Amino acid sequence: MEFKKICDIKPGEHVKIRGWVYRHRVGKDVVFIVLRDSSGIVQCTSKGKTYNTAEELSIESSVIIEGDVVEDKRAPTGMEVKVSGIEVVHKAERFPITKDQSKEFLRNVRHLWLRSQYMTNIMKVRSTVFDAIHDYYRSNGYYEFQSPILTTNACEGGTTLFKVDYYGKVAYLAQSWQLYAEAMIFGLEKIYTIAPSFRAEKSRTVRHLSEYWHSEMEAAWMEFDDCIKVAEELVSHIVQTAIKKNKKELEALGTDIGKLEKVKPPFPRITYEEVLELLKEDGLNVPWGKDLRTIEEQALMKHYEKPLFVTHYPEEIKAFYMKRAENPKLVLGFDLIAPHVGEIIGGSERENNIELMKQRLKKDKVPLENYEWYFDTRRYGAVPHSGFGMGVERVVQWICNLETIQDAIGFPRTMDRIYP
Ligand code: 4AD
Ligand code: MG
Repeated sequence: MEFKKICDIKPGEHVKIRGWVYRHRVGKDVVFIVLRDSSGIVQCTSKGKTYNTAEELSIESSVIIEGDVVEDKRAPTGMEVKVSGIEVVHKAERFPITKDQSKEFLRNVRHLWLRSQYMTNIMKVRSTVFDAIHDYYRSNGYYEFQSPILTTNACEGGTTLFKVDYYGKVAYLAQSWQLYAEAMIFGLEKIYTIAPSFRAEKSRTVRHLSEYWHSEMEAAWMEFDDCIKVAEELVSHIVQTAIKKNKKELEALGTDIGKLEKVKPPFPRITYEEVLELLKEDGLNVPWGKDLRTIEEQALMKHYEKPLFVTHYPEEIKAFYMKRAENPKLVLGFDLIAPHVGEIIGGSERENNIELMKQRLKKDKVPLENYEWYFDTRRYGAVPHSGFGMGVERVVQWICNLETIQDAIGFPRTMDRIYP
């Protein structure tokens, strides 16, 4: 007899299911077991010849159960399995996770907490997000391209680089795929990736990881406005796919699905300078040339329900590769800001003027010789091109309504945590 997934069993069937003991209560002549598998939970009742085996079980023991499914209004899912056979695969030791434990404790036992309904729901949504990213790009004619993790270049400035000893030389863990992607577009034109990026973030916040999954795209012949359209379509596709595939999980996580349903193009757009005006009306004075911090992004998002594009930032607060706007103090760069999380995407049209990039890198005191190969991408048939990067965990944090980005990934890496 084949095993059934718990979500597929129906009253009237005789089934064989397997999973882990989620709840366990022993009565005088009946044992209640709530069994959990990856698809859901169901109550099982054990009497008579199976009683003794069922009584011995402990939370998280792995078991195989056979029995008849019957309707029962009192059971958590409206049905229960009358146990006729039970096989203990492994009797679990006393499970260290009980009710009401601190978040810090739960992170110390993350390898066990991953089985919770909370983490499982998030990981299901996360899996859908990855799927939707691949689906969007592949059905729009993009090739998947991989870049090295070990590099000599800073893409996003020198302050957040992880140093690695590379046969006695200094190398860094990649902050981004972008610079290598800018070399590959001459062969493939439209490319994307999903890969880990590394940032030595020396601050403790609810939206920074040291290792995160970064989905980036780069396209030849693409200008600023078209790049923004790709970002808008991608994010909408992810959110709508998650609603379609994971409504149950999103509801359990307390997401406002009605709000997410509105996440469809077009998203509102506003320039950096307009942001400063808006914030001023809220009593927040950000001097021109200062980057927006989390509190400012949050204040800004009180005015918007959908994600918001902020464009045309001052050149000095953005990366060296961003193309200058008509006003050369500004760049054709954009951030996409999501409610309660803040920046989920950063992108731009790319500068093709090697001198401008060199001047900017010199200001940042970066060794120019490491970028010679990169400047070659502007020497042989340069074309207008654009791209962006999206933090996958920030997207998961936003659509799952999570307090911290640490819950958007299986094993978070932060300044304070590399175990387990
Ligand atoms: O804005 P960033 O630094 O842009 C780049 O890396 C560009 N090279 C991307 C490109 O144009 N191809 O990072 C892009 C996104 C951010 O918007 C944010 O969502 C995420 O990556 N991100 C982080 N997510 C989690 N933890 C961190 N420490 C992050 N740093 C950036
Ligand atoms: Mg950014």
